[in-house]
Amino acid sequence: MKTSEKICGMGHSMKRKEDPRFIRGKGNYVDDIVLPGMLYMDIVRSPHAHARIKKIDTSKALKIPGVLAVIDGPTLEKYKLHWMPTISGDTQMVLPIDEVMYVAQEVCAVIATERYIAADGADAVDVEYEPLPVMVDPLKSIAPGAPVLRKDKKDKKDNLAFHWEAGDRAATERALAACDVVAEQFVYVPRIHVASMETCGCVADFNSAEGKLTVYMTTQAPHAVRTVFALVAGHVGLSEERIRIVSPDIGGGFGGKVPVYPGYVIAVAASVVIGKPIKWIEDRMENLQADSFARDYHMKVRLGAKKDGTMTALSIKTIADHGYTNASANPMKYPAGLFSICTGAYDLKNAFCEVDAVYTHKPPGGVAYRCSFRVTEAVHAIERAVDVLAQKLKMDPVELRMKNFIGPERFPYKSVLGWEYDSGNYPAALKKAMDIIGYAALRKEQLEKRARGELMGIGVCSFVEIVGAGPSKDFDILGLKMFDSAEIRVHPTGKALARFGTKSQGQGHETTYAQIIAEELGIPASDVQVEEGDTDTAPYGLGTYASRSTPTSGAAAAMASRKIRAKAKTIAAHLLECSEADLDWEPGKFFIKGVPDKAKTIQECAFAAYTNMPQGLEHGMEATHYYDPPNLTFPFGSYICVVDIDRGTGEVKVRRFVAVDDCGNIINPMIVQGQIHGGLAQGVGPALYEEIGYDEDGNVFGGSFLDYYVPTSLECPKWETDHTVTPSPHHPFGAKGVGESATVGAPPAIANAVVDALSHLGVTHIDIPITPEKVWQLLRKAGAAE
Ligand code: CDP
Repeated sequence: MKTSEKICGMGHSMKRKEDPRFIRGKGNYVDDIVLPGMLYMDIVRSPHAHARIKKIDTSKALKIPGVLAVIDGPTLEKYKLHWMPTISGDTQMVLPIDEVMYVAQEVCAVIATERYIAADGADAVDVEYEPLPVMVDPLKSIAPGAPVLRKDKKDKKDNLAFHWEAGDRAATERALAACDVVAEQFVYVPRIHVASMETCGCVADFNSAEGKLTVYMTTQAPHAVRTVFALVAGHVGLSEERIRIVSPDIGGGFGGKVPVYPGYVIAVAASVVIGKPIKWIEDRMENLQADSFARDYHMKVRLGAKKDGTMTALSIKTIADHGYTNASANPMKYPAGLFSICTGAYDLKNAFCEVDAVYTHKPPGGVAYRCSFRVTEAVHAIERAVDVLAQKLKMDPVELRMKNFIGPERFPYKSVLGWEYDSGNYPAALKKAMDIIGYAALRKEQLEKRARGELMGIGVCSFVEIVGAGPSKDFDILGLKMFDSAEIRVHPTGKALARFGTKSQGQGHETTYAQIIAEELGIPASDVQVEEGDTDTAPYGLGTYASRSTPTSGAAAAMASRKIRAKAKTIAAHLLECSEADLDWEPGKFFIKGVPDKAKTIQECAFAAYTNMPQGLEHGMEATHYYDPPNLTFPFGSYICVVDIDRGTGEVKVRRFVAVDDCGNIINPMIVQGQIHGGLAQGVGPALYEEIGYDEDGNVFGGSFLDYYVPTSLECPKWETDHTVTPSPHHPFGAKGVGESATVGAPPAIANAVVDALSHLGVTHIDIPITPEKVWQLLRKAGAAE
């Protein structure tokens, strides 16, 4: 570490600066905001997956004392606000005029003086529907001749939202045909939900006297939302300088707070029409049933190899269920996200992947839930396929991985699907995980247990992430380039205020950004106040998702600090009456080379910037930097998981889980460990418990916490974490993102462990979530159930 405990730069496990307010209940979340005269909104939602709205009768609702208005599609149509663009450039109803397209779709909204009166009002609205045929199966929806769902789209003849592909199809087919062995597997990664602790909501406050709209809202991307609002509502006078989006404390976003949901738009419209602040906060069931979902990828994976285990070709054909509209939050050039990272950690010479995105009568899907745009699906596909191949080849899955890893000497490595991996050392991470868990001894234990009829499995996942979107030449959302920003002001007394275009949702930015500035300027991290989320004050940025904060705004923090340091150097030379060339730097002070006592601290330089500036130099000490990363960063890791399976119930118990991660240089080891712990828990969920399913009428299973089973600490083992450090060569301080690694890497490790436990019974694959029921059925089929 270059800095002292007092300065607390990179590498220090500084306690989180934001936690004192959180653990004392002093956080400021959207629902904590109360404005004078504020009204409340509740939403009437569709009980049908597809139906014609024959009549909306609001008379009973409007008779309830305190119910002031009901806003429906025709109300919004008057202002041309009944449709909106999705962030993928598709279109979505804000409120319907004639048809609903999924269960829980917004039908109309009730405005009242109290929250519970609004709810009573919503219950009293009588909507008459005429049910219409429902299409829930994406495989049927994409079949030729299927009824067209998006009749609003002129000339649309099918239910394909988009087709996307990468790689050389013909060369890959030739390579697969020439393989000695091909592992072929259908892999379904089901719909899941981010289920963050705080649901979505907003307080929309239109001040008619000033013509200014302030929206306090749960958004991970406040600036982008402001621009989209201005583009969509400019015609009703809401131009961008009159819109202020404030994203206060957020109780978990995980990608689910990137999209703009109809509720936000209805609340804004209601505030403009009624002239009072409107609060809308979803309840848990609305959140689970109507907000964007993640995953829902049906993948056919083929991985081919030579007899000796050398992998030569990979092909993945995917049907993606996007629900009623393509509302996924992917960069425009990559409608299927960064799925083409699917060759993973392996040196594959031939690969091809394709995605057909399909409309169905389900809520819009495709959110990048704690995942850098479809990487979770890609990693699940390749890591499961590697194990299926190992089983076919009768090779140890570790041996097969080690044989095919991209060697550490090969970086920067150009993958066959076009990515340039910045740095990596995959064998080292796997070796470390094996040493920690005692891999050889576990395999021995497994054999002994198997002989006694006990079921124990060991699962490995060696994943590569791709985060930090992104180079602006390739990455944009609705045309907004995906750079990010930092603005630092050093006050005369040497304390600082730093503002960013990103927005923490619990990741600890107030601490880690301060530590970056501490590292670069030597100002103690405790003296740096970090602010995000207010578009009236923060510099423009694209927000926080896809582990992009450290690679983008973190980098911008370092670059802006360096600009300030350069100015401080000029001031120090002036104060020390020497030339800048005579000065050396150590964190916190400039000193004359060889004479450490002849020094000026950064605080003295800051004071002089306002009190004693060299003639001709601009006063003040501040800098802004908009950072456009030259490439993405490629964090990686190797996870090994041990499971025991109960032959009587099929229940899977994760006994041990070793996670070795590499996110380059680490800013705060304690925060990184916390990110991994949380991510691993969010990996156990989809692996074993979580799924949002639908019956053939489009009714949702998993629409409440009674049947959407989110794991608690009781379902999680004591995580064993460690790391290797392979700095990113292009990032200003060698860091890579880390927020999502564990969510990406954990599910295949667990799935591989369960299949490994059952492999001697002929089991080669189980789709997640691996519920006791699924396991028990397999055991019963194999005659191994107790
Ligand atoms: O964009 P998001 O904040 O979700 O993800 P991230 O950039 O991976 O950062 C998650 C948290 O881990 C932040 O507080 C980072 O500053 C911290 N981190 C770190 O301390 N060292 C790294 N190399 C990467 C992230």
